[in-house]
Amino acid sequence: MIFTILRGLGMANDKLQRAKDQKNDEFYTQYFDIEAEINNYLEYNPDVFRDKVVLLPCDDPEWSNFTKYFAQNFVRFGLKKLISTSYAIESKKYKVGFQLSLFETEDPQYDPDKSKTNGKIFILEKKDDCSKIDINNLEWYYLEGDGDFRSDEVKKLRDEADIIVTNPPFTLFKEFIAWILEANKKFITIGNLNAITYKEIFPLIMQNKVWLGATTFTGGAAFFMGSPDLYDPEKMSDPKHAYIKNGILYWRVNGVRWFTNIDHGRRHEPNSLMTMADNVKFNKKILKKFAELESEPYPKYDNYDAIEVPYADAIPSDYKGIMGVPISFLEKHNPDEFVIVGMCENMDLYGLKTRVYSTEECRKRYREIFGKPGTYDLNASGVVNGYKVYQRILIKPVR
Ligand SMILES: C[S@@+](CC[C@H](N)C(=O)[O-])C[C@H]1O[C@@H](n2cnc3c(N)ncnc32)[C@H](O)[C@@H]1O
Repeated sequence: MIFTILRGLGMANDKLQRAKDQKNDEFYTQYFDIEAEINNYLEYNPDVFRDKVVLLPCDDPEWSNFTKYFAQNFVRFGLKKLISTSYAIESKKYKVGFQLSLFETEDPQYDPDKSKTNGKIFILEKKDDCSKIDINNLEWYYLEGDGDFRSDEVKKLRDEADIIVTNPPFTLFKEFIAWILEANKKFITIGNLNAITYKEIFPLIMQNKVWLGATTFTGGAAFFMGSPDLYDPEKMSDPKHAYIKNGILYWRVNGVRWFTNIDHGRRHEPNSLMTMADNVKFNKKILKKFAELESEPYPKYDNYDAIEVPYADAIPSDYKGIMGVPISFLEKHNPDEFVIVGMCENMDLYGLKTRVYSTEECRKRYREIFGKPGTYDLNASGVVNGYKVYQRILIKPVR
């Protein structure tokens, strides 16, 4: 059985300290989350993987459900080749609790040194009698290097691939997306919702080169699995968010989403929106939001030629100009309905600001609101009646 999740050893205090000090990437995606997302691409295009080379570049089959899922469905998807590469234990930021699997140690090519310093590659290829291909046909060997996706060795595999799928290290998300797109590849991957606002990612979303996947993790959070050694009582104090079951740590991570450039049906589903008048009449929660800003419904920003829309479901169907909407709008974004024209942020990267505040104005406003010295950074967001609103994406209707 090669699919064992790593079992941890006892957590000594120094290990706990290291876990806290290092941003660790050693969390593994659950099988059913992968299945739920991939089903959407298959429903939209049953041949999406047919005759394709799929690369899973951060996936050790011993514990990656991506490898397991794609290997098990190799025949059904009509894959040409599945390549899965793993990152060497010694190169990982977080090494605590790793145990070698029997899959590796009982294989004649097992090398105790390489096992620590080298990545591994696993390959499954289409054969003449493809009805028999499954996980047991995975062939493996040690890579020359440590399996870093940025190495020339893994870049070569990327260039060979048609589609790249994985949950990459969140700490390298920007680099990972750039790495995929510089080779012009299709991908399905996981990242933090905040990544949308990165200056390297947002322009791609604006240009419809990257979009969100079809599913949101239940309750907006993904459950990842890891070694119990990763348990951090400070970060994971709520037992609903983190618990250990059968020797595996389950950790609920908020704000995690799928990112992709492969089409799926959800992004073409029409959104049912009400007119501005109906929203004001029936959508009670927006009135509270506008009252907090001491404003009439749907005010224009002081610093953008756009109106403030505090919830994605409160977008007025009859407004034809630019609207500022929360980033969660992208979960429902249908490019046939709206165009993304920019984002409210400090620099005027999208040429949409109508006013830039001086340092003096920001200081004055801080004193007015908080009654003490400070700076209220009015240039960082949309402003209504001198109040900053949350992060907003600027959109306008297609027609
Ligand atoms: C968030 S985990 C996800 C693992 C797996 N893809 C899954 O979803 O179950 C990211 C993995 O990438 C590995 N990793 C970190 N840096 C890497 C790099 N530069 N190149 C390749 N893999 C890396 C980590 O060791 C970790 O196993």
